[in-house]
Amino acid sequence: MIDSQTVTKIVDAADIIDVVGEFVTLRRRGVNFIGRCPFHDEKTPSFTVSPSKGIFKCFGCGKAGNSITFVMEHERLTYVEALKYLAKKYGIEVHEKQQTQEEIAHNNDRESMMIVSGFANDFFINTLHNTDEGKAIGLSYFKERGFSKKIIDQFKLGYSPMKRDSFSKAAIAAGYKEEFLLKTGLSIKRDDGSLIDRFAGRVLFPIHSLSGRVIAFGGRILQTDKKTAKYLNSPDSEIYLKRNVLYGIYFSKQSISRLDKCYLVEGYTDVISMFAAGVENVVASSGTSLTEEQIKLISRFTENVTVLFDGDNAGIKASIRGIDMLLKFGLKVKVVLLPDGEDPDSFAKNHNAEELHQFLNSSEKDFIAFKVNLLNEGINDPIKKVEVIHEIVNSISVIPDLITRNVYIKECSKTLEIEESALTAEVAKSRKKQFTAESSDAGGTREIPQTTEEVAIPVIPVMPSFVNNIYCQEQEKELIMYMLRFGREELFRTENEEGDEVVIHVDEYIIQDIKNDDLELQNLQYKKLFEEYEQLLKNVADKEGVDFVRHFIHHEDISTSSLTVSLLMDTQMQGNENYMVSKIWNGTTNVIINMQMAVPKALAVYKSKILTIAYHGLMQQLKDEKDESRGFDILEKLKLLDEQRKIIANFLNRIVI
Ligand code: CTP
Ligand code: MN
Repeated sequence: MIDSQTVTKIVDAADIIDVVGEFVTLRRRGVNFIGRCPFHDEKTPSFTVSPSKGIFKCFGCGKAGNSITFVMEHERLTYVEALKYLAKKYGIEVHEKQQTQEEIAHNNDRESMMIVSGFANDFFINTLHNTDEGKAIGLSYFKERGFSKKIIDQFKLGYSPMKRDSFSKAAIAAGYKEEFLLKTGLSIKRDDGSLIDRFAGRVLFPIHSLSGRVIAFGGRILQTDKKTAKYLNSPDSEIYLKRNVLYGIYFSKQSISRLDKCYLVEGYTDVISMFAAGVENVVASSGTSLTEEQIKLISRFTENVTVLFDGDNAGIKASIRGIDMLLKFGLKVKVVLLPDGEDPDSFAKNHNAEELHQFLNSSEKDFIAFKVNLLNEGINDPIKKVEVIHEIVNSISVIPDLITRNVYIKECSKTLEIEESALTAEVAKSRKKQFTAESSDAGGTREIPQTTEEVAIPVIPVMPSFVNNIYCQEQEKELIMYMLRFGREELFRTENEEGDEVVIHVDEYIIQDIKNDDLELQNLQYKKLFEEYEQLLKNVADKEGVDFVRHFIHHEDISTSSLTVSLLMDTQMQGNENYMVSKIWNGTTNVIINMQMAVPKALAVYKSKILTIAYHGLMQQLKDEKDESRGFDILEKLKLLDEQRKIIANFLNRIVI
C-alpha cells in the first residue's frame, strides 16, 4: 500500500506532457498539446493533452485519462505498478503507508503467503521435470493431453508427489513457517499436529495474479475412478479470493487488449489448449459463475467478450443466466456454441490453429439473438411465450446504453412477434424495478445535505411523481459537468431559521433538486458518479479541504476517472477555461458563466426534456389504447404534464443568461 502522501507527491510530479511525451510526439496548439494517439491508428492527430488539468483525451478513439491512467493503459500496468513506475521516473521514494502494527502484520502475512506459494510452485515444477514419479505420472499425463513442453513451461504446470507429506516437509526444511503453509491451504494440519499436503498426487495449475505472482493452485487428480473431486482448488485466503481472479489473465491481458476481445471459457485446460492452438486472448472463470469483480477485470482490457459454450444443451440454459451480468457492465457479448460433445479444450486440440480461428470467427453470434432463438425454439404455448419474453426483457433491460437497448428491442420484437412498444414498456418497467432494488440495496434513506435543508433558495418547479426513468443523456451530462467543473463554487447565500448564514454550493443545489423530485440519472456511469459525489458530500466533514474534482480525476475506477476527464475536457479542451461548448449556450463566444442563472437553467432544461419525452410517450400510449377508462387515465396524466411543461417553460423564460 502506498500512502496517500506519496501518491500525491507522485501525482504532482508526473507532469502529463512529460509523461505522455515519452511515448508520443506532442506539438503545442493553443493552451493544449496535440499528437498522434498511441491507442489507435490515426493519420491526423486528435490526441489532445491539457497541461493545466493534467489530463489527456483522444477525440478519435475517446480514450481519456490522467498521467497515471496513461501509464497504466500504455504500459499495461496496475495502478500501484504505474505509481511505482512514475515514482522511479521522478526519483520519488515510495513510502509504504504509515501502518499500524496490525496492518504491517497483515501485509507481511500476504507477502509471506505469496513467497511460500512461489516456493511451492518451484517445488511442483521441479518434481514434475526432475523426479521419476513426476516424469512417469505427471509429465506423461500432460503429454498425453497434448500439452507441449513450451506450454507446460509457460503455464508453470507442476506435480505434487503422492507421498502425503513430501511438500510440507520440504517447505518446513527450507525454512517456511507452518502458519503460512496453512494460511495458503498448501498444507493441512492433522489432529496429531503433523502436516499433510493438500495437493498430493495431483498435477498442478498455478493461478497467477494480474502481475504474475502465484497466489493459488488448481490440482487435478489423475486416477479418474476415485470418488474424490477431479479438481481441487486452493481455499480462499488473504491473497486469493476466487471471485476476484480469472485464470489466465496474466498471460492473456496483452493479447486481449491488442485484439480488443476476450474469449471466456470454463477452466484451466480450456485456456491452455486455446493458447496452444494460438488463441491467446482467453480467460477462464474457473468453474464458478462470473462475478462482478471478474467482469470489471475483463473490462479493463476490452469491452468485447465472447463466451464459449460446450455443445451440450443442458449446460447452456443454466449458464446463460450469468451472462446478463456482462451486459449490465456495458460489455458487448457474443457467444460461440461448440459442436455437440466438444469443450474448448477438446475442440482446440482436435483442430489446427487456422481451423480454430476460422470456427470461432464464423460461428460467433450475438448473445441476445442467440438467447432469443434458444428459448423461443418450438414454443407455441402463450404462457411459455410470456416467460420467454420476460427472460429476454431482463437481458435487454440491464444494458446501460439506450441506443443498444433500442436496437435489441427492435430486433427482438421481430423475432418474438411482439409489438415494439410493448417490449419498450416492459424494458422500462424492468429497469425501474432494478434501480429501486439497487438503491435500496445501497442502503439507507436519502438524506438531503444538512446545509440546504431549511433555507429558501430558488426552487425549480417539481415534477409529477409518475415521470421518472426517462433517459436524457445530454442533460444528465450537463448536470454532472456542472458538479465536476463548478461543484464547490458558491451559488447562493441565505439564512437558516436560527439566523445563521448558510452557503449553498453548486453541487448541493443540483443534488438536492434532483433528489427532491425523486429523479434518478439513467445513464449508469453518470448515476454512479452522482451517487458517489453525494456520498462524499455527505461524509466528508471538511469539505473545503477536499478536492472533489481531483478525487474523481484520480479515481481508482478507471471508467469513473476517464468519464470525469472526458466531461472536463468537453468543456475545456477548446482553449478557454470559461468557454463552454454547450447546447444551452449555442455557444460560439466566450461566456463568463453566471452560475445563479446557469445551474437552475440546466436543471429546468433537464426536467423539461423529461416532461417532453414523457408527453410523447403518453401520446403514443393514448393512440394505442383501446380501453376507454384507461385512455381517460392517460388523458389526465397528459393534462398534468402539459401544465407542468408550461410552468417550466415560464421558469425558463424568466432565466436569461
Ligand atoms: N473444472 C473444475 N472442477 C471440476 C471439473 C472441472 O474446476 N470438478 C474445470 C477445470 O478448470 C477444467 C474445466 O473445468 O479445466 C474442464 O472440465 P473437464 O473437462 O471436466 O476437466 P478435464 O481436466 O478436461 O477432464 P477430462 O480429461 O475428463 O475432460
Ligand atoms: Mn475436458
